[in-house]
Amino acid sequence: MGNDYMCMRYKATIPPSYNAPDVRAAVIADWTEKSIRATHIGIQGHGLSTLPIVMLETAAEYFCNWLQCGHQYTVLEVFSGNCVASSLFVDAVNRYETASVKWIATDICDYPSRVMRPNMTFDKLHAADAVAKYGPHTDILLMISPPISTLLSQQKFADYYACYDFIEIWRAGLAPKYLVFVGEIGGADGSWGMYDYLFRNEHLRLVLRAVIDTRVDLLNNEYYEELIVFEIV
Ligand SMILES: C[S@@+](CC[C@H](N)C(=O)[O-])C[C@H]1O[C@@H](n2cnc3c(N)ncnc32)[C@H](O)[C@@H]1O
Repeated sequence: MGNDYMCMRYKATIPPSYNAPDVRAAVIADWTEKSIRATHIGIQGHGLSTLPIVMLETAAEYFCNWLQCGHQYTVLEVFSGNCVASSLFVDAVNRYETASVKWIATDICDYPSRVMRPNMTFDKLHAADAVAKYGPHTDILLMISPPISTLLSQQKFADYYACYDFIEIWRAGLAPKYLVFVGEIGGADGSWGMYDYLFRNEHLRLVLRAVIDTRVDLLNNEYYEELIVFEIV
């Protein structure tokens, strides 16, 4: 990951104080539909996906190859947006025919351009509420291009609380449960600090890491879009 700038991005840590109930409540209270919609309507409102289709197809292929033959999975997707990316994944699973999925897409906004598939449902919920409602019945928590969190943004650490809560539900569980992340963890996608949080987490075991694209930012730093799968242990 090259130079100091990139290292800083990936070494950022999420302050432990973010789990204090009052801090958490204040962060979540700041997730307002109106401001989040304003940030995302340009892409999500126009029937587009955040990542190019070709990259999503590569990610979906890795995902399908990773799913176990004959299994039926319940997938909870947070940050599903208009479900263009979700539908592409569902189509890929249906095409592969080796495993089947019940797909629960959720987002704090319901975009008018939302597309659906027969084995999908959509529920308009913020990420923490989605995990509280569906997490106990979910095998895979999926995040495709979770919202980037800057200090000023109003969607801060939504990926962190979704993962944290899902791990809390399942870390003592008997059946295997997974976190699947598509994008640039803790960089262009998701909150700064997520890379450190996920890769140093004693309750997570990395089971798959596949590069779906290599990119170069404005400062000429190379970075990777990936599909990453963790098992909760
Ligand atoms: C970058 S878009 C990704 C959408 C879709 N997964 C895709 O790949 O095109 C991030 C999405 O997260 C949603 N979002 C942002 N903050 C959220 C929160 N706190 N809870 C739930 N959804 C949120 C936005 O509405 C937006 O649809």
